[in-house]
Amino acid sequence: MGDSLLRPAFALLLLFLFPTAIHAQEDADPGAGVSGEHDFNMYCASCHGEDARGNGPKAFSLALRPPNLTTLTQRYGEFPHDRLVRMIDGRDAISGHGEREMPVWGVWFKAESAQELGGAKGDEASVQRRVDNLIDYIAGLQAK
Ligand code: HEC
Repeated sequence: MGDSLLRPAFALLLLFLFPTAIHAQEDADPGAGVSGEHDFNMYCASCHGEDARGNGPKAFSLALRPPNLTTLTQRYGEFPHDRLVRMIDGRDAISGHGEREMPVWGVWFKAESAQELGGAKGDEASVQRRVDNLIDYIAGLQAK
């Protein structure tokens, strides 16, 4: 008798505990990194705009207008994945031509890598993961 009363209470307790357990695990997963959407709103929207169309609040004070990032596929014929890796990371272009208004995010993300949950200082994988997440996010914004 006591048993049959306890069983539903136990089931409820499990229901209550399980989502929190799953959540705690996600929080502690070092592979999860920072989402592309988070980084975009934090670091890119000031120039490229929250809608990525190039009208962020900082856009008008620059010599070069930040491009519309929703028309990349239209403008390049296909989604220019490798170009984006180079543009966003930016580190292999430094020595070349100096005309660049875009911050070199590879340097920034590398400096920040130690702050990523579970990240090691100067962890190159964390830089690449953040660039990849940003590119996936931008790929999802392309106008059809
Ligand atoms: C300070 C303003 C500024 C910020 C912040 C900024 N950008 Fe840019 N971005 C530009 C400008 C200006 C250009 C044009 C090319 C240049 O400056 O060399 C550009 C170009 C680009 C391009 C090339 C687009 C094309 O048409 O080929 C990509 C991709 C890009 N930015 C992505 C990003 C991402 C992702 C972030 C955030 C991590 C970011 N930008 C943050 C100003 C900015």
